[in-house]
Amino acid sequence: MDTFVITGGKPLKGDVTLGGAKNVALKVLIASLLTDEELVIGNVPLLRDVFSLLEVLKGLGVTYSLDGHTLRIQNGHLKNSAVPLEAGARLRTSSMVLGPLLARRHEAKIPNPGGCRLGARPIDRHVSALRRMGATIDYNSKDGYFYAKAEKLTGTTIEFPKNTHTGTETLLLAAVLAQGKTVLKNAAEEVEVDELITLLNAMGARIKRSGSREITIEGVAVLHGATHSIMPDRNEEVTFAIAAAITRGRIVVADSQRATLAAFLESFTKAGGMYEAVGDTATAYWMDDAPKPTDIMTGPHPGFMTDWQAPWAVFMTQATGISSIHETVFESRFSYVGELEKMGANVSFFSPPTDDPQTFYNFNLDDRIEGFRQAIKINGPTKLHNAVVDIHDLRAGATLILAALAASGESYVHGAEHVDRGYEKIEERLTQLGANIKRFKEEEV
Ligand code: EPU
Repeated sequence: MDTFVITGGKPLKGDVTLGGAKNVALKVLIASLLTDEELVIGNVPLLRDVFSLLEVLKGLGVTYSLDGHTLRIQNGHLKNSAVPLEAGARLRTSSMVLGPLLARRHEAKIPNPGGCRLGARPIDRHVSALRRMGATIDYNSKDGYFYAKAEKLTGTTIEFPKNTHTGTETLLLAAVLAQGKTVLKNAAEEVEVDELITLLNAMGARIKRSGSREITIEGVAVLHGATHSIMPDRNEEVTFAIAAAITRGRIVVADSQRATLAAFLESFTKAGGMYEAVGDTATAYWMDDAPKPTDIMTGPHPGFMTDWQAPWAVFMTQATGISSIHETVFESRFSYVGELEKMGANVSFFSPPTDDPQTFYNFNLDDRIEGFRQAIKINGPTKLHNAVVDIHDLRAGATLILAALAASGESYVHGAEHVDRGYEKIEERLTQLGANIKRFKEEEV
């Protein structure tokens, strides 16, 4: 594992360009399985997760070439319908090939997915929805594989019991080639889902948002090639906005996704963060005064995204007073707290009372880790200091980098590869903004 060595305390100033959105890129790559023609995809982020998925797709018979950030990808001859166990453990999204494989090869063997360590993260909502379309899916706990078969997939009305972002996308990827009409109710509304819909429609699919949290898909017989450019990553924008505020700098984000960040900007402004449009497409972020404490609750779109809560926690260590963060989407997404405490943060866990936790929380209550508390209180302000810390998952990684940038002294942040899963060359972009951050191989530290 590589290590970032960061000397904090410098205001970050300047312009930054966002990478393509990871959570769009991965699904767009999977969409290549739906046609024999070529997809030409622009603004592909060169991330570890993207390369892991390309390996999985290659194993299924896909060929590709990469020129800068433009990917030409073609599934000429699907030759295999199994994803290796190891790939599934590394990359949760690899399970999403299930839909296209069932639609086109009528069978799939998919490992139980892994991904970031955010708790159990099962795919029961994906599986039961695909069963409703006619698939037979059995899980073999001895070998860790789902075995799926479907002579054909048939459109039907499916209501997700709880929000699921990738579950909605998995069903889109299955329903586009199904026979007849599929209606997804309680479907996810994240803008990344809309991007996938745009690409699939460009490939000849017939998908529309037909109501609030409802998507209607008219199955078609074949899909064709298309050209698409991936939207900039709004999670990166949030990271840079917070970086500007906590280092008392000013960062101008080119190709800003501000229009999709309403929930973040509302809280950012309440906390005293400032932003303004620069020209037609950029946004500048900064902060004049000390931040004010906030109470945040994560939720599916249009709520405050779970991906933003870890960086937000660093921001709130600088606020005067007590802030709280209540995580309602994942049952375990506070792996960074112990590491932040090493830098001096004053954080305590608590369990907010909820009337009906079964419906209130987005995760399945049965997956809840015993004794785990769903919320934290942050007592600020804290003058963060240097420490040696470990990254356990992607967003926690960005968080610890932010904390080290705001802290005094030299910090060692181990586990850089977790950050490479979602941020391309983060150290280069931060250096351009004036940060003192260097990356070392394990043996060099
Ligand atoms: N869940 C189940 N069963 C299912 C599906 C979901 O129990 O069949 C649970 C999950 O364990 C979680 C909750 O329901 O507790 C919500 O899951 P959802 O399916 O909405 O999330 P996801 O698809 O696993 C995607 C992103 C996440 C992002 C969330 C929320 C991708 C590849 N991942 O996860 O991104 O946080 O939606 O928008 O698109 C990240 O980028 O760091 C990341 C984790």
